[in-house]
Amino acid sequence: MMPKFYQLRIQDVKKEAQDSTSVAFDVPNDLYETFNYKAGQYLTLRFNINREDVRRSYSLCSSPVFEEPLRIGVKRVNGGLVSNHINDNLKVGDLVEVMPPDGRFYADTKKENYKTYYLFSAGSGITPILSILKTVLLTEKRSFVHMIYGNRSHDSIMFSTELEQLQNDYKDRFVLVQTLSRPKSKWSDLWTTSKDNSFRKGRVDTEAVEWFINEYPPYAQNAEYYICGPGTMIENTKKALKNIDVPDERIFIESFGGKDSKDTTEAFENAKLTAILNGETIQASIPKGKTILRTLIDAGKEPPYSCEGGVCSTCMCKLKTGKIHMKNNLALTDKEVEQGYILSCQSIPLTETIEVEYK
Ligand SMILES: Cc1cc2nc3c(=O)[nH]c(=O)nc-3n(C[C@H](O)[C@H](O)[C@H](O)COP(=O)(O)OP(=O)(O)OC[C@H]3O[C@@H](n4cnc5c(N)ncnc54)[C@H](O)[C@@H]3O)c2cc1C
Ligand code: FES
Repeated sequence: MMPKFYQLRIQDVKKEAQDSTSVAFDVPNDLYETFNYKAGQYLTLRFNINREDVRRSYSLCSSPVFEEPLRIGVKRVNGGLVSNHINDNLKVGDLVEVMPPDGRFYADTKKENYKTYYLFSAGSGITPILSILKTVLLTEKRSFVHMIYGNRSHDSIMFSTELEQLQNDYKDRFVLVQTLSRPKSKWSDLWTTSKDNSFRKGRVDTEAVEWFINEYPPYAQNAEYYICGPGTMIENTKKALKNIDVPDERIFIESFGGKDSKDTTEAFENAKLTAILNGETIQASIPKGKTILRTLIDAGKEPPYSCEGGVCSTCMCKLKTGKIHMKNNLALTDKEVEQGYILSCQSIPLTETIEVEYK
C-alpha cells in the first residue's frame, strides 16, 4: 500500500538549543497503529511553502516505549526552506501533514538482550540516536550504552537536559562523552576540570572514536555501532571502526544528506518508461534531466518518496528492464543494488527502454 499523509495536530513546540526546536504531535486513537514506530525511524512532513509542495524527513527523537508523544527535533540549516519554516512558524494547535514512520535505521530492542551499544552522533544526528538510547535503556535492563555526541558549542547541544537526566537515571549502564569543536571561552575549562572525561575538545573524528572505544571498551561482547551525523563524521567514524575490525553487519548508519550532487552523467533522451505502481501499469517518456520519480509525479501519479536526495530509500523500486544511473545512493546496500533495486528519485535512464516495479 502506498504511504499517505495524515493531518496531525501539534501538541507541543519546545526550543531545544539556540538553533533548533522540537515539535510533538498528537496522534488520535484511530491512527495509533498507523503511527507505531521503531526507535531510529523518521517521519516525512509535507508543507506548502510559497505555493510549492515540499517534503522533508525528520527522525523521531521520542521513544516508542517511553510514555511520550511522537516528537521530532529540527535544526536550522543555513538558508534552508523547511528547517527554518519549522523553527520560525510552527505553533501548538497547527495541523501538519505527516506520513507514517519509516526507515531502516533502527535498533531491534528485546528485553532479553545483553549488548553494548555504541552510539555516535553529531549535530542534529542526535535525534534517532536519542530515541535508540532511551529505548535500549528502558527495554534492555542488561545492556550498556556508550555514547559520544559532538557539537560546535555548548549553545548548540540539543536535548542537553534530557541527556543529563538519563545520565542520572542510568548511571551504571550509560556513558556519555560530549565533544565541542568551537567552545565559547566560559566553557573552555570544562575538559581540564572534568575528571570523568564527560567533555572533550574537538570533533567526533577518527582519533576521538578510537580514544573513546579504548577508554570505554564493550562490557557485553555483543556490540553494535550506530552512527548519525554529517557526512565527514560518518566517514571518520566508519574508518575508526574498520581500523579495529568491526564487521560491517554490526555498523548501522543514517545520513541526513545535504550535499547537492555534482554528477554530470548524460541520460538517454526521451527513454520509454513502463512503471508498475499500485497495481497500475504506467507508460511515459522520461524527459531530459528528469528522474524516474519526477517523470511519474509530472504524469500525475503518486509514487512513494520523501527526501528526494538518495538518502531515505522511500522511493525504492525494482529495475526489471534496461539500465539506469543513480546520481546519489546513500540508502541502498551493495547487495540490494546487485539484486536490481534502485532509488527512483536518483535514477536517470541509460537505455531506450526502462521498466520498473514499485512494491
Ligand atoms: C532520513 C532523514 C532523517 C532526517 N532527520 C532530521 C532530523 O531529525 N533533524 C533535522 O534537523 N534534520 C533531519 N534531516 C534533514 C532534513 O530532512 C532536511 O534535509 C533539513 O532540515 C534541510 O532542509 P531545508 O528545507 O531547511 O533545506 P533546503 O532548502 O533543502 O536546503 C538548503 C541548503 O542546505 C543544504 N542542506 C540540506 N540539508 C542539509 C543538511 N541536513 N545538513 C546540511 N546542509 C543541508 C542543501 O544542500 C542546500 O544547499 C533528515 C533527513 C533525512 C533524509
Ligand atoms: S526519496 Fe529518499 S532516497 Fe529517494
